[in-house]
Amino acid sequence: MSRVAVYPGTFDPVTNGHLDLAERGLRHFDRLVIAVLGNEEKRPLFSVDERIELLHEATHGWSGIEIESFDGLLVHFARRVGAQVILRGIRAASDFEYEMQMAMMNRKLEPELETVFLVPSEAYSYVSSRLVREVAKLGGEADRLVPPNVARALNAKLSRG
Ligand code: PNS
Repeated sequence: MSRVAVYPGTFDPVTNGHLDLAERGLRHFDRLVIAVLGNEEKRPLFSVDERIELLHEATHGWSGIEIESFDGLLVHFARRVGAQVILRGIRAASDFEYEMQMAMMNRKLEPELETVFLVPSEAYSYVSSRLVREVAKLGGEADRLVPPNVARALNAKLSRG
């Protein structure tokens, strides 16, 4: 049986930390489905189509990776794509409480689905999409924290290109 994991998130935008985690995930799973939350209530900087495009560009040539959007419950999406595992990253203790709550809720909803946590490289332990957006909005350089296509997209979006 092929091992399938879903790696869900908002990815607004994808960072080098996300890519590091996805690469680590691919070492353990045959298929890794990156699931981009479509919910526009979070008022994302990038539309879901833009976030998916940025992920496609950033993972170009990777094998075993798929990128899709989802709405509604993650466990329903996971079942639809045949995943046995939800993959999430934990950067620091501060991530733990939120991640634990989500993992428990998802287990309550779908006991067969396991949440697996991986730890990204320490080089990215402080990187988050929220801080990347903030730094870029305030005129700082987000490169090296995000792939080059995302740095360009941030510049273009914030009219500094
Ligand atoms: O990158 P994020 O924003 O921390 O990702 C959060 C995400 C998308 C994983 C989470 O909000 C989610 O799974 N949303 C789907 C709705 C859902 O299934 N909620 C119940 C489980 S807690």
